[in-house]
Amino acid sequence: MDNRSIGVFDSGLGGLTAVKEIMRELPKESIVYFGDTGRVPYGSRSRETIIKYSRNDVNFLLKNDVKVIVVACGTVSSVALSQIKEISPVPVIGVVEAASNAAIRATKNNKIGIIGTSGTINSGAYERLIKDKNAEIETFSKACPLFVPLVENGHFDTMVAELVTEEYLASIKENGVDTLILGCTHYPLLKNTIARFMGADVTLIDAGAEVAKELKRVLINGNICTDTAEAGKYSYFVSDNVDGFETLGGIFLEQTICGKVEKIDIEKY
Ligand code: DGL
Repeated sequence: MDNRSIGVFDSGLGGLTAVKEIMRELPKESIVYFGDTGRVPYGSRSRETIIKYSRNDVNFLLKNDVKVIVVACGTVSSVALSQIKEISPVPVIGVVEAASNAAIRATKNNKIGIIGTSGTINSGAYERLIKDKNAEIETFSKACPLFVPLVENGHFDTMVAELVTEEYLASIKENGVDTLILGCTHYPLLKNTIARFMGADVTLIDAGAEVAKELKRVLINGNICTDTAEAGKYSYFVSDNVDGFETLGGIFLEQTICGKVEKIDIEKY
């Protein structure tokens, strides 16, 4: 038993799609969320910068005495997971392994599509993990750098979103994948548009939802679930304007943000 909070971070708002799933899977657990809204996006930055930013984020969560860290960012999970594990005394769970395992379980024709930020796709992390587990699976990946700004500007189901989706996903669709990993935690907001384009026969894997299930397994196996009878408490920290986070964050979370939201200076950590 461990009544400390779960630490979750992302480059910005996207990680809230994972938080939503964690709240659903583990309603009694408390969560400390950090969104690096002042330095988003991470996906187009160099490996060195992503590692440096991730260290700040992890140190901040550790200062908040969390019992586990969920890396709710496809880019950080792909590029900096081993560096984070090196500095963290508590378990670290990333989205890449959880989503890859779910995709391997889902595919029937052994053709998996992977979409994510440039950082995620260029790292090759998803492909490596999938091939390590099953060398017969073919992967088709595509960086979708316009998806994050689309989502951050509220374009989920619009014509613009449809056009960009078609441009990015046409080649993946042509390759006949039956499973598509949404390898960035912003992308579940585009799920309807992506599903419409890919068709009903393609299973979409939501990295945030998969990491929530993996987190539950880690808490149960490590015997570190909370034993409180009350609902979990939530605190949110950001590195830029609190107002923008509260408004748009509610859309990612699919509920009003309850709990304090505070701005911090992440460079200090
Ligand atoms: N949420 C981040 C991810 O999952 C994408 C945003 C960014 O580029 O920072 O990769």
